[in-house]
Amino acid sequence: MSNLVLTNIGELVTNDHSINNGQLGIINDAALVVDNGVITWVGQASDLDAHTSTKPMDMHGQSVIPGFVDSHAHLVFAGERSHEFAARMAGEKYEAGGIKTTVAATRAADDDDLRTNVSRLVDEMHACGITTFETKSGYGLDVETEQRSVRIATEFTDEVTYLGAHVVSPDYAGRADEYVDLVVGEMLNACAPHAKWIDVFCDRGAFTVEQARTILSAGMSAGLIPRMHANQLENLGAVALAVELDVASADHLTHLTDEDIAALASSNTVATLVPGAEFSTRATYPRARDLIDSGAKVALATDCNPGSSYTTNMPFCIAVAVRDMKMTPAEALYAATAGGAQALRRTDVGRITVGSRADITALNAPSYIHLAYRPGVPLVKHVWSQGNTIFSTQHN
Ligand code: NIG
Ligand code: FE
Repeated sequence: MSNLVLTNIGELVTNDHSINNGQLGIINDAALVVDNGVITWVGQASDLDAHTSTKPMDMHGQSVIPGFVDSHAHLVFAGERSHEFAARMAGEKYEAGGIKTTVAATRAADDDDLRTNVSRLVDEMHACGITTFETKSGYGLDVETEQRSVRIATEFTDEVTYLGAHVVSPDYAGRADEYVDLVVGEMLNACAPHAKWIDVFCDRGAFTVEQARTILSAGMSAGLIPRMHANQLENLGAVALAVELDVASADHLTHLTDEDIAALASSNTVATLVPGAEFSTRATYPRARDLIDSGAKVALATDCNPGSSYTTNMPFCIAVAVRDMKMTPAEALYAATAGGAQALRRTDVGRITVGSRADITALNAPSYIHLAYRPGVPLVKHVWSQGNTIFSTQHN
């Protein structure tokens, strides 16, 4: 028995390359069938009758896309830093040190405060069409709060990242190597059972390339899969390490050399770009065009965090990527769906194909191009996760 059928889809974005219709594998006048949370049929609406007995939902000729896959977010924290943002907009520079303000607030919060904040942000993500998201620890920087953070994160997503190496803990000021020992020792032991990924912020004011190597290697030995914050503030040479360790994703990449781009292009490492961070820190945007033209795999993510990118709005990130990073609307949508899935090494999400999870976002627009063409307009109309409604603008 089918549990969800959509028809009269004006434009269905499948990301299926076997459909010979551009990078997005678009089917016009489409329909789809979902059984038990999985897509079981995709095709022309005129062929639907033969494939279902369930009453279809009419999409009124509008666009339907895969749910967004947000492969980089920091949702477990307390407090906010709007004053820091206002100071930046008045000319102050963004530095990694602001993270410590959030560390103090996060340590002081109890589990329920943290849970409530994550839940609020997850609701925002759903309303913006995101159906899969990664989230990190990194605002505890002591064993207890880092472990609380990854544990609470598992209540919301399978894609949990241990980021004890966000910055050197204020408890270890001037003793970075001792803090690294904690990160790869007691803290890793406490967090690894709750995490899938390990991440490190390899940058000015955070960790060196050699420290990052130590941290990622220890995480990998503990069974975690590596990913990196690389080259946001400065180019310390993090990309070469990312490629050497075959990390799933190198994120930010605000400062890249031609050699970095060539290295990423000939690697499995996804280049995850987070335009919300450049927007909110008034930094120059990464070289998305050069990455794509050289053949690198590119993802777009929100980087939702209270310091450098306090947004859960993937359509906003797409609009900025198109306007300011010279990505085409198709490249940006692909990066925010299939690209994010690649950055999380997931093959079951980020596409609308037979056998994929029924994670689907319906738009109040005839084309996905409107995501960039109508910046800031809430175009997400209905969102399903495994065939179940997680957001809808229609009131029953
Ligand atoms: O991804 N770059 C490091 N971490 C965050 C910023 C965290 C903060 O400022 O609180 C980021 O941009
Ligand atoms: Fe980040």
